[in-house]
Amino acid sequence: MTAKEYKEIVDRALDASFLCPKDYPVHGLADAMRYSLLAGGKRIRPTLVLEFCRICGGDIELAVPVACAIEMLHTYSLIHDDLPCMDDDALRRGRPTNHVVYGECTATLAGDALQAEAFGTILRSELPAERRARCAMHLANAVGLDGMCGGQYLDMLGEGKRLSAKELDEINSRKTGALLTAACLMGVASAGGTEAQEEAAAHYGAALGMAFQIRDDMLDVLSTESELGKPIGSDQEESKNTYMALYGEKKCEELVLKLTAAAKAALSGQFSDTAFLDALADSLASRNS
Ligand code: IPE
Ligand code: IPE
Ligand code: MG
Ligand code: MG
Ligand code: MG
Repeated sequence: MTAKEYKEIVDRALDASFLCPKDYPVHGLADAMRYSLLAGGKRIRPTLVLEFCRICGGDIELAVPVACAIEMLHTYSLIHDDLPCMDDDALRRGRPTNHVVYGECTATLAGDALQAEAFGTILRSELPAERRARCAMHLANAVGLDGMCGGQYLDMLGEGKRLSAKELDEINSRKTGALLTAACLMGVASAGGTEAQEEAAAHYGAALGMAFQIRDDMLDVLSTESELGKPIGSDQEESKNTYMALYGEKKCEELVLKLTAAAKAALSGQFSDTAFLDALADSLASRNS
């Protein structure tokens, strides 16, 4: 499967989500959920789910709901991340942000509902019950107190302060690394992979996640709004602690390469075919959007 094919599978499945007739009482909320969910996005997390499932010998078709679930969860995190009380951004995935179009209240609820629907999508899937439960557990671990929400909390607390490299790593491993790691783990779990495979997948995801946020911080300074589909300079405006501010461009670039190499190295030994995941890590290291 190519990256493009994975994206098409995910886009198609997401497009069939939360459709409801215009006279349905909550169709406005469904519209808001679909607005952000279908606005584009690289679909990296669902791609990781499907590829890890494949290399562990699983049935990709059965894992599609798990892949959609992590994208729903991720989209919820983006809607809330953009809210005025958080990063206060007006552009996402090349479109006005959810709250700009639907208002803060509906945007908040769209995020909340996407989170619940993510878990529902896993639990209603046709995977064997213990695999469903394991996927849901990995997702819950990645999002809660010590996951994305914890990371977003620390990110907010750190605004305007000078944090150490260790503190910044603690924020980013939670706010971004945890969900990317969960994607890898959920792929293994949906195939019924081994503990050793889960461990290797978690190491890959953690290194990839760190590299991903460093690159994200770089692009916030170096890219353009039209290329990125989200505002440039948002981090400085919100007095965020970023790797760019801490290390500068050259060291960030070196770190991204080092972490990408570490991610790829983590896979060796546990999986027979890592070509796709190696190439994905490389492409993310030099991504421009
Ligand atoms: C953006 O994630 C938020 C971060 C965790 C840095 P992506 O860069 O994966 O955003 P989309 O899904 O492609 O829009
Ligand atoms: C947010 O990090 C990560 C999330 C949990 C959504 P950023 O605030 O840097 O993400 P962008 O740059 O707005 O996508
Ligand atoms: Mg943020
Ligand atoms: Mg943001
Ligand atoms: Mg950013």
